[in-house]
Amino acid sequence: MSILKSSVEKKMGLALAGLFLVFFLFVHLAINLTLIYPGKEAFDAAVEFMATNPFIQLMQPILFLVFAFHIYMAIYLELTNRSKRSVKYVKNNPGANSSWVSRNMIWTGLMIFGFLLLHLYNYFLPFKTQNISDHYELVISLFKNPVYTFIYVLAFVALGLHLSHGFQSAFQTFGVPREKCNRPLVICGNIISIILAVGFSAIAIYFYFN
Ligand code: HEM
Repeated sequence: MSILKSSVEKKMGLALAGLFLVFFLFVHLAINLTLIYPGKEAFDAAVEFMATNPFIQLMQPILFLVFAFHIYMAIYLELTNRSKRSVKYVKNNPGANSSWVSRNMIWTGLMIFGFLLLHLYNYFLPFKTQNISDHYELVISLFKNPVYTFIYVLAFVALGLHLSHGFQSAFQTFGVPREKCNRPLVICGNIISIILAVGFSAIAIYFYFN
């Protein structure tokens, strides 16, 4: 990306895109929770609204661009950091100054990317290309399959872990002082992660059992 020259600018772009995606996930979760309550009518009305509202139609390609940018930047920065880190230290104890989640952001991120491809194939593609009479039924029927329910819940756990570090890391990239704000940011990141991971998992598990 030639407009984002330094690696700090690239990290800022990555962080900004990540925060936009968190916002999308909250909207997406709110809409999906209507599957459970109030139920079918509300969900079908939401789908109808999403399919016809001009603002949503404008936002959809932007959302895909932001996803693509976030994934591209994350892989680019990971590969450049790896090549810079190629000098091995005699004593290397990463566990002493970084968490497991922070060291594995690329792997939880790639798991979410894999999930996203499957997810678009499961829902987005049929919604856009087929003449579906019952959207509600299509969405919930996926979770009657234990393999899908397991893969989805696993991806939501990965999403929770990814965000628990990603949220605070984004604000540190923007220069928010570590000494003063670390604790509130960690708490905020954990709350956001739990709401999203538990909220999405609840939908999958609820329809698996009901
Ligand atoms: C139980 C959890 C979930 C359910 C039931 C669900 C359901 C759906 C449905 C029905 C659509 C098609 C909407 C339409 O085209 O009108 C969709 C689209 C999409 N979903 Fe999900 N979703 C879930 C979780 C997630 C998660 C965790 C992510 C991201 C990591 C995600 C990302 C997307 C994206 C990017 C689209 C395409 C854009 C859009 O149509 O809004 N979804 N989802």
